[in-house]
Amino acid sequence: MSYYSDDVIDDIRSGNDIVDVVGEYVKLRRSGSSYVGLCPFHNEKTPSFHVHQDGQYYHCFGCGAGGNVIGFIMERENLSFVDSVKFLADRINYTLPEVSFSKDAQKKKELKQKLYDIHKIAARFYYDCLMSSEGRNAVEYLDKREVTLGARRKFGLGYSPIAKGALYNKLREEGFDDDAIIKSGLAYKRDDGTFYDKFFNRLMFPIIDVYGNIIGFGGRILGEGQPKYLNSPETDIFNKSRNLYNLNLAKQARKRELILVEGYMDAIAIYQAGFKNVVASLGTAFNENHSRVMKAYADSVILLFDSDEAGVKAVLRAIPVLTGAGLKVKVLQVTDAKDPDEFIKKFGAAAFGELLNNAKSHIIFRAEQIQKQYDLDNLEERIDFSKDIAKLMSEVNNSIEADAYLKEVSRITDIDLSAIQSEINKLNSGVTAVNNVNKRRNSNKKGIDGAREDIINIVMSDKRYYDIISRHLEPKELLEPFYIKVLEIIYSLYKNDKEVNTGTVLSCIETPEEQSKFTAIFVKRVKFDTDEVIKAINDIVKTIKTAYYDKLISDNYTSPDVSKLIESKRKVNNLYISLSDG
Ligand code: GTP
Ligand code: MN
Repeated sequence: MSYYSDDVIDDIRSGNDIVDVVGEYVKLRRSGSSYVGLCPFHNEKTPSFHVHQDGQYYHCFGCGAGGNVIGFIMERENLSFVDSVKFLADRINYTLPEVSFSKDAQKKKELKQKLYDIHKIAARFYYDCLMSSEGRNAVEYLDKREVTLGARRKFGLGYSPIAKGALYNKLREEGFDDDAIIKSGLAYKRDDGTFYDKFFNRLMFPIIDVYGNIIGFGGRILGEGQPKYLNSPETDIFNKSRNLYNLNLAKQARKRELILVEGYMDAIAIYQAGFKNVVASLGTAFNENHSRVMKAYADSVILLFDSDEAGVKAVLRAIPVLTGAGLKVKVLQVTDAKDPDEFIKKFGAAAFGELLNNAKSHIIFRAEQIQKQYDLDNLEERIDFSKDIAKLMSEVNNSIEADAYLKEVSRITDIDLSAIQSEINKLNSGVTAVNNVNKRRNSNKKGIDGAREDIINIVMSDKRYYDIISRHLEPKELLEPFYIKVLEIIYSLYKNDKEVNTGTVLSCIETPEEQSKFTAIFVKRVKFDTDEVIKAINDIVKTIKTAYYDKLISDNYTSPDVSKLIESKRKVNNLYISLSDG
């Protein structure tokens, strides 16, 4: 999967000490054999984020994040594996060799490069049109909307001319073929064989990804008319749910807080008022991918949508998506203006800053929305209201926070705290019962997963254990794909006489998710004495094999082979592994 040889990856890892690299993002202090600091992947007040120089890995006991230096950059900079390697190579002035691709991958890469080039030329073309006499009306429109000259340049705003194949002709002049132009989404072929531009006579907003590539456009009509906006279609380089307008500039603010708005114009108005950490969704419903991308740059989000009914609906939809990604969510509504853009124009940047400071927790926002559905003068409705609020509050895990919210709600609604509290208690006892069942379920699961994790740690700890265990246990017997993969990696490192430690194992695991899973196993390792470990190996291998045969038997219980499986399972009990096996 990776395009660089193991030697190159080794060079990159050994040249970028994890303590140095992480230290550029997190303030670390020495503590025993490791370094600790505040975790950059979740919000915390006491440090549970550990960086180990010996093993060259990190692990957070708070959120479970973990991995090696490449995984860290993937998570923190939101880069792919290959791009993280490039990033770290740059950091140490290491010249990477040319990568080799399969033919298909090569083709795909070439097409993507063409699409990036097309978009760059298109943006330049639209910008030049805006500056030419043709763009007079668009300039007038921007003046009217009070978009500063600086912002026009910063956002690369442009104008698509009235002539309907103007961009198409320009792109042909530049040597692009029809196929690539069509795939860019910026022009299309009509039935009569002629080409039309997607955008004409519109104000153009280039959409830029976090790496600075132009990947699409939004086009606004000048003044009134329908449709108000046209947006580029999704293409090989434009994925609407992985990109946000202005994220490329917002991430430079390095604030760990993002303001999320709906409109391009809102984002620009807020940015030019001095609040650079603003992003806008791209005219699609806000979804999990968006929030995952935001989580790479932020711990909290302020939702700032239009104050109309559609805006409120959109906020209510976005809240669970954002909290689900572990983001803290605050909500803000502008007053006496239809949207943030108008608010800033009317009241100025300072008033807007003031407004931002008063953003309220999504819980309070939702409580207010719930309140609107009930007539609180009516006794019955007051009871139903209390029930709804109780349900809302049971989402809050922190009791001090919940208390504060509750006080606020009872203040706004004038409803007695104790009434709501007793509803919450009722709900909570239900929740606890469910939690207990889940806990019990998890502890059974922990048994077999614990055995798998222990065996991985034991095999890693000493080659002698590998020698004996590998004779009796095949990776597939671990059943779970992730554990199988890890054990296969370890076996193959030993087989090829490579060193086996967290560092070498992690370098065979590419995704940050799997790296985290692996470090979580590794940090849980227990140290056994030599005589204990043989007993442990026997117990664990038996547990794993029994589970393996149980699964095979239950999958095959109608097949004639089942008796053989039952026999194999029976033999597991007679298994005895000793050190002299190796
Ligand atoms: P102004 O009206 O110029 O202030 O624009 P705005 O950027 O504030 O946009 P608005 O709040 O009206 O809409 C929010 C976002 O929804 C826009 O930025 C577009 O991405 C999208 N949008 C709005 N109208 C349309 C439309 O007619 N078609 C499509 N496809 N998207 C739209
Ligand atoms: Mn607007």
